Amino acid sequence: MAQITTTAEADNVLVEWDNRYAIGIPLIDDQHKELIQLTNELYKSCLAGDEAARANFGTAVKGTVDYVKYHFSAEEKILENVKYPEIGEHKRQHEVFVKQVLEDVQNFQEGKKFVPNVFVRFLKDWILSHIAVMDTQYAKYIQNLKKQGALDSAIGI
Ligand SMILES: [Fe+2]
Repeated sequence: MAQITTTAEADNVLVEWDNRYAIGIPLIDDQHKELIQLTNELYKSCLAGDEAARANFGTAVKGTVDYVKYHFSAEEKILENVKYPEIGEHKRQHEVFVKQVLEDVQNFQEGKKFVPNVFVRFLKDWILSHIAVMDTQYAKYIQNLKKQGALDSAIGI
């Protein structure tokens, strides 16, 4: 019996952007797309197990961490500007995630217990579930402000 392979797996892509991940704020959706793209690049670099792949992974992981930080601070700035009531919990989730990622990256750099494949899947799962739950929650709040005409246009979203 032929094995069933999804298009994504056939292309060595871990996760493909799907419009069901969109929260309806173009600036944030674009950043989420970029995060997914970076996760896929990391995934690709862990498919081959040689020295070069390890070096690639090291570079890619740094770029991903930088982008994650950039994205979180952009998001938090928006949440501050719209006075999102749940901002504290949202920020806390970001912090816990960054702490975990930095710990994993440090283990990787020090050659300690670190499995790239497990790490990349953790990134993917966290990002997708964070978008689906936490980001969707604030998006609803922002859409409501918009409906009421209470969204300050200076915020730029
Ligand atoms: Fe978030």
